[in-house]
Amino acid sequence: MISTARRLARIPPYLFAEIDRKVQEKRAAGVDVISLGIGDPDLPTPRRIVSALQEAAADPANHQYPSYFGLRELRSAIADWYGGRFGVKLDPDTEILPTLGSKDGISHAPFAFVDPGEVVLAPDPGYTPYATGAIMADGEPYMLPLTAANEWLPDLAAIPQDVRRKAKLLWLNYPNNPTGAVAPDEFYREAITFCRENGIILCHDAPYTEIAFEGYRPPSLLQFEGGKEVGLEFHSVSKTYNMTGWRLGWIAGNASLIKAMGQLKTNIDSGIFQAVQWAAIEALRGGEADTKAANEIYYRRHLRVADVFRGLGWNVKPARATFYVWAPVPKGYDSISFAGHVLDQVGVNITPGVGFGQHGEGYFRLSVTAPDDRLNEALHRLRKLKV
Ligand SMILES: Cc1ncc(COP(=O)(O)O)c(C=O)c1O
Repeated sequence: MISTARRLARIPPYLFAEIDRKVQEKRAAGVDVISLGIGDPDLPTPRRIVSALQEAAADPANHQYPSYFGLRELRSAIADWYGGRFGVKLDPDTEILPTLGSKDGISHAPFAFVDPGEVVLAPDPGYTPYATGAIMADGEPYMLPLTAANEWLPDLAAIPQDVRRKAKLLWLNYPNNPTGAVAPDEFYREAITFCRENGIILCHDAPYTEIAFEGYRPPSLLQFEGGKEVGLEFHSVSKTYNMTGWRLGWIAGNASLIKAMGQLKTNIDSGIFQAVQWAAIEALRGGEADTKAANEIYYRRHLRVADVFRGLGWNVKPARATFYVWAPVPKGYDSISFAGHVLDQVGVNITPGVGFGQHGEGYFRLSVTAPDDRLNEALHRLRKLKV
């Protein structure tokens, strides 16, 4: 038996694999399982974007290796989108790097910036690649608890001095997965000051800035004074345009940090299929109508879930952004036993909060990215759940 690298053994066991196994088992036994477990839009990619891909895919000019740094036209479209949406001016040649989805940039950033033993600050609960990316680069994740009492914002002042000295990256993610929380402007300013004072790179993972409701417009890190100096923002077309399978994102921000990520990535992958880049250009240049329509659907679903949950005595406020509902598990359960109970009793798959880190214990996450009839059926079943 050949052993794997030690870094792989340091990666925590993948809880979701066990849940998947249970779901498959139920389905094989004939149970009609409704999955509200993953954050993957059920709505199709808008037609205009699919057509742009079809046309570009037929053009031999797009069949060869693409540039490592993406088409100039794509970087310009991203720069224009940032200008229009956030009033942020970006140089398409030095301040933007297209990636294979934002996960590519997120998971690889530590390879560019973190030496063995250096610290990566990451929210708990949080998107798992912040910590696992640090581990893969032989860095040390230091988890920052997100709690209801702190409105799901990390307490930066509580980070000990010796940890700050060793820290290279701070991950933030607002609007937030899994909690659905949003961050006030003061928090971005506080984080910029903290990173500047401690020589830390501020990495803002922002794929949900466009999934927001009731007139709320989440900000970009880069629109705040000093944001571009200390930071990078990771974004993508995945959630905004229902393009999770297309694998196109980008990093924007500080030119010297972007250069380092570019140098790293030329040694890892060979760019993004150009036809997908042309489709993303169409997505970004095509206005906000599709996103607005999707947000109306998500918000309507959020309201329905909140309403049914209230009836069950589970108090949740509809989120201001994201397609996630984050709710406390009923008394007598931990998050895994509750998710198991819901699956066993009513065939609905929800995600236990502990899968996002130990501070996610006591909560579960439900995603409103299921078609209306399936979501309604899931809510109908949950009403009958005995806890
Ligand atoms: C917080 C967060 N960041 C990043 C991603 C990755 O998105 P993508 O790689 O599709 O751009 C996700 C996907 O679920 C996410 O929830």
